[in-house]
Amino acid sequence: MTNEEQKRLLFDLTYLKFKLNSIEAFTHDINNMFSLISFNLYNFKELFELSKDKCFYQYNEIIENLNNLETNFETLDNCVSRILALSTEKSNSKKGNYQLKALLDDVVELFLLRLKNHKIKLEVKCEQSNSINIYQQDFIILLQNVLNNSVKALECINRQDKEITIECHEIEMNTFLNVYDNGSGIAQENMSKIFDIGFTTYENSSGIGLALVKSIVDYNYGSIKISSQLGKWTEVSICFPKY
Ligand SMILES: Nc1ncnc2c1ncn2[C@@H]1O[C@H](COP(=O)(O)OP(=O)(O)OP(=O)(O)O)[C@@H](O)[C@H]1O
Ligand SMILES: [Mg+2]
Repeated sequence: MTNEEQKRLLFDLTYLKFKLNSIEAFTHDINNMFSLISFNLYNFKELFELSKDKCFYQYNEIIENLNNLETNFETLDNCVSRILALSTEKSNSKKGNYQLKALLDDVVELFLLRLKNHKIKLEVKCEQSNSINIYQQDFIILLQNVLNNSVKALECINRQDKEITIECHEIEMNTFLNVYDNGSGIAQENMSKIFDIGFTTYENSSGIGLALVKSIVDYNYGSIKISSQLGKWTEVSICFPKY
């Protein structure tokens, strides 16, 4: 097997593992949704009981509950569609120039529930005109992994002003993407290991995220740099050539 073939095989394997991880995350969301829905239903029943003899005095609350129920069902539907999409899509979509803002919005949408649950503020600074030359699917996986790391780093700490900033700009023939979070940060002694397959500081993670990100960056002729201060912040800076 040539070096190139080995690299591609490794990439395909990590991609498969990533799919499994994503399915696990969506299943977690679905579980949450079921709990919320059963809570809505319980409230609903209580309200009906209360308003039994009062000709629906709790009308507004009943409507609010129904609206919540509807939103939760929509989220559930969304999760199931995403699992279906994940299980059928191919790892190598077409390479081309994509509008960066649209790609970012698509990925950010996947995190809305977790961001809300952990009171994390996410800001996207990207011009409509910014574009990126990449395999679309690769970019989605890359950003999902980087964002997932930021969210995890914020979920495990106790602070009020949790934030993630995604910032993009173009300089000459390069597109830059920076993802900043004020989460747990990375210990200096771990900096040299974070791109290694299997390196993780979490109990229930597999440590493939950044290895996959690095292989996607290399595959698309880009570069990546991670800076961090333990207990304070982490910044991932990625650069892709435009052509
Ligand atoms: N934004 C970040 N903030 C703090 N630590 C980070 C951040 N990004 C990466 N790390 C550190 O780098 C390690 C490796 O990251 P990587 O994404 O490869 O694996 P993981 O997140 O632990 O597991 P997986 O991605 O497979 O779920 C993490 O375990 C964590 O210690
Ligand atoms: Mg990760």
